[in-house]
Amino acid sequence: MDFYEAVKSRRTVRDFKEEPVDMEVIKRILSAGLKAPSNDHLRNWEFVILNDKSEIEKVLKKIPKKVTEKRLEFIVNSMGLKNECQQKMYQDAIPKQYSMLHNAGCLVLPFYRQKAPLLAPKTLSSLNGFASIWCCIENIFLAAAAEGLACSMRIPMTGETEYLAEVMGCPTDYFMPCFLSIGYPAEEAAVIEQKEVKIEDKIHINKW
Ligand SMILES: Cc1cc2nc3c(=O)[nH]c(=O)nc-3n(C[C@H](O)[C@H](O)[C@H](O)COP(=O)(O)O)c2cc1C
Repeated sequence: MDFYEAVKSRRTVRDFKEEPVDMEVIKRILSAGLKAPSNDHLRNWEFVILNDKSEIEKVLKKIPKKVTEKRLEFIVNSMGLKNECQQKMYQDAIPKQYSMLHNAGCLVLPFYRQKAPLLAPKTLSSLNGFASIWCCIENIFLAAAAEGLACSMRIPMTGETEYLAEVMGCPTDYFMPCFLSIGYPAEEAAVIEQKEVKIEDKIHINKW
């Protein structure tokens, strides 16, 4: 697929067919991740790949399976979102946090080595490891799009990170920035309208 076509077709999808993804395809996608720029040039990244439902269920134990309509309305209203695209995104996202990770053909947990405490950075460069893994994650998304696959991500909430480290038995200096699901989109998968932003409104030539 043409690069710009892959960029355009990469969209967050939270409805998946329960169909496995071939391991060779997953390896190709993650290899694209490994080509991303890395602050220390070491690519201190590790990926836990889960394709066994009972293991996936264990990992997702802390994520609520369902959210009532009332609770969803309360959360979205309390966010005070003015933009309609944003409101629709949260209405789609909040109830599907568990199912999008559970139903996709493959769940990937990306880890990177975090040397200084992530939540108490002293300098901007203390965040370089965190920034680098996000470069890696975007490459993964684009490669998945080029393979005709869909992705979604979840930032772990309080308690989920600690629980995960415990069940994964990962080294204490490794940190997971998000859950990643990769799979075949469901027939009627919702793709939320992307907020239109014109490049002409975003560039500043020579001066802000
Ligand atoms: C840093 C970051 C955090 C995100 N966190 C979540 C999340 O926790 N759950 C979720 O469903 N989507 C999450 N998303 C996906 C966004 O909702 C999505 O990218 C956005 O709505 C734009 O849609 P698009 O990816 O289709 O362009 C996150 C995206 C980013 C970049």
